[in-house]
Amino acid sequence: MDAPAPTRGPASFLTQANALLRKNLCFQKRNLKTNIGITLFPVLLCVILVVLQGVIDRELDKPKYRCGCVCVDPGPAAVGDACRRTECGVQHSTLDQVGSCPIPNPTPWPALVQVPRPESRAVRTAGQPFDGLPDPTCRDTGSCPAAVLVTGSNRSLAQSLSVGLFPASTSSLNLTDYLDALSKIVAGSDTWPWTTELIESAFIPGNNLYLVQPRCLSNLTQTVSSNAGAIPLQLNIDCVQGLPLWRESASVVNDELFKGYRQNGGGSGGGKTNEFVAGYDFLNTNTNGLEMNIWYNSTYNNNTAYVPISLLRVPRLVNAASNEYIKFLKGSGVEMFLQYVKEMPKVGTKLKFDLSSLLGALFFTWIVELLFPVILTYLVYEKQQKLKIMMKMHGLKDGPYWLISYAYFFALSATYMILFVIFGSLIGLDFFRKNAYSIQFVFYFIYINLQISLAFLVSSFFSSVKIATVVGYIYVFGSGLLGEFLLRFFVEDTGFPKGWVVVMEIIPGFSLYRGLYEFGQYASAGNSMGTTGMKWSNLDDSLNGMRVVLIIMVVEWAIVLPLAFYVDQVSPLGGGFRKNPFFFLGCFKKSPLSLRRYSFGRQGSKVVVEMDNPDAVQEREVVEQLLLEPIANQAILSDNLKKVYHGKDGNPDKLAVRGLSLAIPKGQCFGMLGPNGAGKTSFISMMIGLIPPTSGTAYVHGMDIKTNMDAIYTTMGVCPQHDLLWETLTGREHVMFYGRLKNLKGTELLKAVDDSLKSVNLFHGGVGDKQVGKYSGGMKRRLSVAISLIGDPKVVFMDEPSTGLDPASRNNLWCVVKEAKKNRAIILTTHSMEEAEVLCDRLGIFVDGGFQCLGNPKELKARYGGTYVLTMTTPSENEQEVEQLVHRLSPNASRIYHISGTQKFELPKQEVKVADVFHAVESAKRRFSIYAWGLVDTTLEDVFIKVAKGAQAFSVVA
Ligand SMILES: *[C@@H]1O[C@H](CO)[C@@H](O)[C@H](O)[C@H]1NC(C)=O
Ligand SMILES: *[C@@H]1O[C@H](CO)[C@@H](O)[C@H](O)[C@H]1NC(C)=O
Ligand SMILES: *[C@@H]1O[C@H](CO)[C@@H](O)[C@H](O)[C@H]1NC(C)=O
Ligand SMILES: *[C@@H]1O[C@H](CO)[C@@H](O)[C@H](O)[C@H]1NC(C)=O
Repeated sequence: MDAPAPTRGPASFLTQANALLRKNLCFQKRNLKTNIGITLFPVLLCVILVVLQGVIDRELDKPKYRCGCVCVDPGPAAVGDACRRTECGVQHSTLDQVGSCPIPNPTPWPALVQVPRPESRAVRTAGQPFDGLPDPTCRDTGSCPAAVLVTGSNRSLAQSLSVGLFPASTSSLNLTDYLDALSKIVAGSDTWPWTTELIESAFIPGNNLYLVQPRCLSNLTQTVSSNAGAIPLQLNIDCVQGLPLWRESASVVNDELFKGYRQNGGGSGGGKTNEFVAGYDFLNTNTNGLEMNIWYNSTYNNNTAYVPISLLRVPRLVNAASNEYIKFLKGSGVEMFLQYVKEMPKVGTKLKFDLSSLLGALFFTWIVELLFPVILTYLVYEKQQKLKIMMKMHGLKDGPYWLISYAYFFALSATYMILFVIFGSLIGLDFFRKNAYSIQFVFYFIYINLQISLAFLVSSFFSSVKIATVVGYIYVFGSGLLGEFLLRFFVEDTGFPKGWVVVMEIIPGFSLYRGLYEFGQYASAGNSMGTTGMKWSNLDDSLNGMRVVLIIMVVEWAIVLPLAFYVDQVSPLGGGFRKNPFFFLGCFKKSPLSLRRYSFGRQGSKVVVEMDNPDAVQEREVVEQLLLEPIANQAILSDNLKKVYHGKDGNPDKLAVRGLSLAIPKGQCFGMLGPNGAGKTSFISMMIGLIPPTSGTAYVHGMDIKTNMDAIYTTMGVCPQHDLLWETLTGREHVMFYGRLKNLKGTELLKAVDDSLKSVNLFHGGVGDKQVGKYSGGMKRRLSVAISLIGDPKVVFMDEPSTGLDPASRNNLWCVVKEAKKNRAIILTTHSMEEAEVLCDRLGIFVDGGFQCLGNPKELKARYGGTYVLTMTTPSENEQEVEQLVHRLSPNASRIYHISGTQKFELPKQEVKVADVFHAVESAKRRFSIYAWGLVDTTLEDVFIKVAKGAQAFSVVA
């Protein structure tokens, strides 16, 4: 293989973006089912809404809810059921039906006051010891008076006005013209009124009509049947005494009304409520003008349901006072009558219940937000599986990653929303059809952008998919529910400061809710009034929160997106090398680092390393020498690299790598051997930028791993210990992707990919075109090696590349690595001594955070293994003789192993000749029986065990 063309620089932004895009397209193509499922979800929900709406519509269309009709002219019996004339209207309707009747000419009703029910009328109690209240015994007979509290600045005037508030009726009431009759006196009711006056609830048969009188005469109690317009009436007319009570000031009135309110906790047990008809404050009323305040009870209810009675029971209260005032001014001959109150006419309506507008805000908030956990999960997945850092290690810059991921999520969200709106409109949901599509477009456009940015930001804080998913869904459902039950409440409460609503809307879920809520409101208003929903001009409406929401979301988007990028760069969980929080300042002090970098590579004085061994010291000196040279052609130069894991909960700090110095020139394969937990992985992790070094640094082709990792990544290949692969992509797609990242193009790329697949034996039989999920462990391993070598990286890290391979594949792989090391430096960790011997030009045995020895395999064997090992198995009674025999051969031999007749001896090489051993054994065979024997040269394995043991013994002593 000849040297690669030096022209190929690092891949440009667009090349990387293209690579990632193609990979993602492949990935999403395999993921098609899930994607379709996601995008069809809103369609499904719309269908459910439509079905429910249909059920409701059918129910509402039943005669029960339509204006009542009766047959007024049945026609001749012969014709059967046919009816000549039916009449529809309020008079033929039940209460459920009335709402939908046309009312061209509403019935006038007398204005009434709200009279407390007999058992609730104010009496004297321990909690209400105010003047003039009746004794509680009146409650037994139901004859308690209805009290009115009166105050004002001129007591005599106020009292004289209050006395005449309830004019006495003539002895018997002529109800033929009940409007006129009831306008001259004050009548009241204890039933709760409806919000409209189409029918006055007090006149529904069975309810009481009270005549509020100065004094009750027994003959006023009667039952009268009459007709109000077309509506038949049957009235229980009862008398109640109206009792005006003077109070010193408005605050006394307030206090008394307050104390009467559900006194002692209300309910049945303790006290009853102590209710009043009303409170009057005549303020500064004098001969020049009438001024007054009226307290009325708007929460009147019947103990099961609070019904706001609006102001329907107020006109009579005002009229009673005004009437009295005019009499006071002009004398009793002048009177002021309030004849009746009357609704405006209305057309017949069909009872409608637009589910989508009503449930809309909550449901649609959920639907739109549902993409949030999907995006979040995807982002965290790539991080959790270390796929992101894997791509980064092969040169993918953050820019293209963000661009392509963002674009993909945007495309997904946009499709989702477009389908949602189009489908919702097609099936006729007013929520979509009534409101201007341009506003909807702008609103959803901004929101999905904000949501994607938010997902990016939030993903920086998670490293586990499970937790991210759970949190994501909690956010979705939580913000929807809180929006429905909290935000909505505040929005509809006109007294609530609008500023706080805006503050709440800073949470994106709430701003979404508010926007959808406004759409729903406008749609349902447009629905019931037959107009269109929200238009751009409606943004100026004072109650319309849409404009504020749009502004909030745009501003947030502009803040969250850069913030997410920033946090991703500095977050320790960012799945990569943490940058200084002020890394962006670096742009301003850019200096040509290339040559100066070594000058500050050495930090201060020489570090004293405890218990160093000669090899490590020597290597350190080499490194120091190399660092002084301006241009080092060393591929990897590690300068006193240290990693300390700080102990938690009182545990001592753990020194994972203690001041490691190492120089590896181009063309060398360096093998790192060492027992588990020796710190090899920490070292590699530092070199590939997964964790930052505690002190010291390393240079890869002159670039500092502390500051220049991004540049290093473009010339680096990594074969991680655990395969970091996308299960649904094929082997070829993987290699293609990483090849593109390394700026391979066109035919060069195709050739490199083919070569690469061939070299790891994944080419033939279409194996390379199978999805990685179907690969065996060994195939994945080989693919990982192929990935690490694609695009001719200058430095390759391989973490146990041949684990789990069958011998044939392993040999194959070794050939690949041997071929590959010609042009680059390779650092390889392994537990296979055979592999180390075959592949590595130099070995380091790494124990307890530092190298115990360095050298090429032969050297090491010679140094640590200057012995032969003689193994001999005899009957156990001959053990003594064997030992003597060995000592004759080699006086310094030592027995290293011994069990029931089998013994192992180490014989120093300089003392024995192999031929002598054979002779001695031959002659010994004649004297006693030898079952088996053998003589072996030291292996690397022996060296390893020896070094590892020695180091451990040493560290125990130290
Ligand atoms: C209170 O009103 C009465 C009746 O109009 C008037 O004669 C009297 O002067 C007023 N008192 C005060 C203090 O204004
Ligand atoms: C009631 O009033 C109507 C007309 O206003 C009158 O025709 C009728 O005679 C009166 N009935 C009695 C009992 O006064
Ligand atoms: C107003 O009406 C409600 C419901 O009947 C009652 O509980 C409450 O005590 C009343 N308030 C006053 C001040 O009378
Ligand atoms: C209260 O009003 C509701 C609504 O009309 C009615 O169903 C209920 O029976 C009433 N309860 C009492 C105690 O009057």
